[in-house]
Amino acid sequence: MHESMTRMYEYRLPFLRGELADLPERLTLTDLQSLDHYHYCSTTAIDIAIERLGITAESQVLDIGAGVGGTARYLAQQVGCQVTGLELQPQFQQMAVELTQRTGLSQRVTFVQGDILTGIAGTFDAWLSLLVFLHIPDRKTLFSQCAVVLKPGGRFYIEDYVQLQPLTPVEQRVLAKQIACPYLPTLESYQQDLARAGLGVLAYENVTPLWQNWVNKRWHQFQKNQAQYRQKHGDDLVDSYLCFYQAVADLFSGGNVGGVRIWGQLLP
Ligand SMILES: C[S@@+](CC[C@H](N)C(=O)[O-])C[C@H]1O[C@@H](n2cnc3c(N)ncnc32)[C@H](O)[C@@H]1O
Repeated sequence: MHESMTRMYEYRLPFLRGELADLPERLTLTDLQSLDHYHYCSTTAIDIAIERLGITAESQVLDIGAGVGGTARYLAQQVGCQVTGLELQPQFQQMAVELTQRTGLSQRVTFVQGDILTGIAGTFDAWLSLLVFLHIPDRKTLFSQCAVVLKPGGRFYIEDYVQLQPLTPVEQRVLAKQIACPYLPTLESYQQDLARAGLGVLAYENVTPLWQNWVNKRWHQFQKNQAQYRQKHGDDLVDSYLCFYQAVADLFSGGNVGGVRIWGQLLP
């Protein structure tokens, strides 16, 4: 795994462990709030994905880059479907399994540790991937693996960063070093790469203003609560979060980096 990705995620689990210390052994999804979502707009984003994917209780769903599993658990609880979460980082995958056991959802949600670039066994009615592909510059391998895991007519839903206008050198550096995003496609090249792999885009939504607002609020909210966090988690961890949240807020306010939701279907 690339060094910038390790750095970007290394303080998440200590923070989560610290927060979990105040919670009961048996957890509800409400207890976890947004502690287990590393995408934007929390469960609202997942509700939109459920609707766009048209998944039902009978669906087999793959969550690509599952993090600590918040999306997979929410899908299983809301819809009653079977969800497999694929996650690159072993320590995140293990935490995803632990939280799923503690929420009593292990019958419907499983997690596999692995890299989407080397594929995953099985086929699915749908997959979704929230804020993951920005870490993966090899689009050809990525989308060909994403296509082979879909059953005929299977659907997909993506939330990701896109390039709206040429990036400044500073933005390029921040994206590569702090966000572990070494390559940022335009919406047009994003769609072309999907189509080349047989993934037909049905529609997309530019969510840049929504995300600008959300990431800004997240940064300010964290700043407001920092005294309490510093006491509980220590200065290093809080400073790492503040630095990251500010970098993301600055990127979005610059107007060159945007956010998109893209959904579609495997082409016949
Ligand atoms: C911003 S987090 C989003 C996690 C989750 N989708 C969520 O919304 O909470 C991105 C995740 O993608 C995972 N990831 C990055 N590259 C991956 C790859 N090649 N295969 C599988 N997972 C990957 C990272 O380890 C990280 O957990």
